[in-house]
Amino acid sequence: MTMTHDGNTRTQNSQLLAWVDKMAALCTPDRIFWCDGSEEEYKHICDQAVESGTFIRLNPEKRPNSFLARSHPSDVARVENRTFICSEREEDAGPTNNWMDPKAMRAELNERFRGCMRGRTMYIIPFSMGPLGSPIAHIGIEITDSPYVVANQRIMTRMGQPVLDVLGADGDFVPCLHSVGAPLEPGQDDVPWPCAANIEDKYIVHFPETREIWSFGSGYGGNALLGKKCFALRIASVMARDEGWLAEHMLILGVESPQGDKHYVAAAFPSACGKTNFAMVIPPKSLDGWKVTTVGDDIAWIKPNPEDGRFYGINPEYGYFGVAPGTNEGSNPNALASLKENAIFTNTALTDDGDVWWEGLTKEPPAHLIDWQGKDWTPNSDRPAAHPNSRFTAPASQCPSIDPDWENPAGVPISAFLFGGRVSKNFPLVFQSFNWEHGVYLAATMGSEATAAAVSQQSMRRDPMAMLPFCGYNMAEYWKHWLRIGRRKVGTPPPIFRVNWFRKDDRGHFIWPGFGDNMRVLKWIVERCEGRAPAVESAFGLLPPYAAMSWEGLDFSQDAYDSIMRIDKEIAQHESLDQAELFARFGDHMPRELEQQRELLLSRLFHSPDVWHLPESDAKAS
Ligand code: OXD
Ligand code: MN
Repeated sequence: MTMTHDGNTRTQNSQLLAWVDKMAALCTPDRIFWCDGSEEEYKHICDQAVESGTFIRLNPEKRPNSFLARSHPSDVARVENRTFICSEREEDAGPTNNWMDPKAMRAELNERFRGCMRGRTMYIIPFSMGPLGSPIAHIGIEITDSPYVVANQRIMTRMGQPVLDVLGADGDFVPCLHSVGAPLEPGQDDVPWPCAANIEDKYIVHFPETREIWSFGSGYGGNALLGKKCFALRIASVMARDEGWLAEHMLILGVESPQGDKHYVAAAFPSACGKTNFAMVIPPKSLDGWKVTTVGDDIAWIKPNPEDGRFYGINPEYGYFGVAPGTNEGSNPNALASLKENAIFTNTALTDDGDVWWEGLTKEPPAHLIDWQGKDWTPNSDRPAAHPNSRFTAPASQCPSIDPDWENPAGVPISAFLFGGRVSKNFPLVFQSFNWEHGVYLAATMGSEATAAAVSQQSMRRDPMAMLPFCGYNMAEYWKHWLRIGRRKVGTPPPIFRVNWFRKDDRGHFIWPGFGDNMRVLKWIVERCEGRAPAVESAFGLLPPYAAMSWEGLDFSQDAYDSIMRIDKEIAQHESLDQAELFARFGDHMPRELEQQRELLLSRLFHSPDVWHLPESDAKAS
């Protein structure tokens, strides 16, 4: 069959042309369309998606140039149990990843992809993760049969002809093949959200040695926008290990003092811990003159620079794919401003005047909505109007707090790493590690509570470095890589901090106000980086005394502070035993340093009082 090639792109890259031919022969689409990334092309794709029912055009007066998509109810989130790392050896994937033999997986995928684009258009999307031509950036090519993916990738990545120009005739790229897995018979009508409805028919597959991604059966988010979790984290973590850099599930923000001193901080939090809110945090008015700027909200690529010994980070993405519910004028006005136009919404509710709504957007819900499944909804309905994982896709350039250097190809210098879990007891609001090895241990053991049950049964869902679902190789080898990076002769690595916004009182209420007040924690952190803020040594690490934090404009007593900083010895001992179970899973791959750090913690705890408090005298230090 001769296939027509449409679109205005030009490339001489023979590797790319050969791969596209091979995939077209496998998937047998009706047409091939090369995306140039232009405004006209975007308009054309969106118009077609409106016509086919995939997109609903929102009221242009309320939400200019914006669309709503509703997914199939079976296709609403990342599918971790159908995500595979197919390294040659099982132990290279490690005990926390799903592994399958690459030969067996290729055979299975070839069957799945054979003819899977029948009746559809195959789109070729050249994209750059990171500013075009940046020495930290990398190029991918996504082949997809989903116009929804094309439209989203134009917001989430730099895409089109400029990427092919940088790729040149012999540049390398990561091949990313995607199909919704729903071929059309001649004359068969399409549905608004084609996908493979059964979970066993979905595959999110990574071949780390050959750096390839094959995704089948899902059209949603991280399953389908392959530049994000699949490339920028799972495949990039392997590239970073081999090449001596870091691909992390981290936001990057800038903190500027009233004197104009600027620091960048990279912070890892597990999914659903308010990362986008923190990346765009607005300092309280009482912290006069402090400013926070946003480089990225989800992923950071960070390289040590041998010239000046510092670590430089970029945000490889170009937009935000944020969770909508809970986003409002109080929690994140910058996110709301970012999505006021040129945005795509997925699985939010639709208002009667053609705009979007989700739980938490306004205190009072509208009297009538169309819910994320297209059904009538009123405040009396016993189900949410927006899906809890409904999303907005919005251009990063529209964020009012965007950092002036967010597209700097050299990246921004990172002054500190933050790691945060969600823990209701015993983990202080903030503390600094004693050194790099201790910091890597704190990051490797982070997690969120699985239950709020009795202390003795309390166990953590471990999420080392917030990378559990995203590390493309054996997690223990990843920890070794972190240990190695800090020891390279590139200068002093940034200090490492743990934070925890989620400590609760005896009645189960959060003690720390969070949101804008997290700026108080950031202020202490950057002052520590400059060597001008005091800290008190505890069994866990270095803690800020009460007087070292700025309290203007917030009524937060020393007693309340003590309740989020004190350390209960028994809980801490129990927690460190639980960590031993995590480490045991990795057998011989385990770096000895982390077990040594765990033992050092136990011996410090042994000499601690049953309940450790910040000393009163230190509380008065300045
Ligand atoms: C995300 C996630 O969507 O971490 O960013 O799950
Ligand atoms: Mn994420």
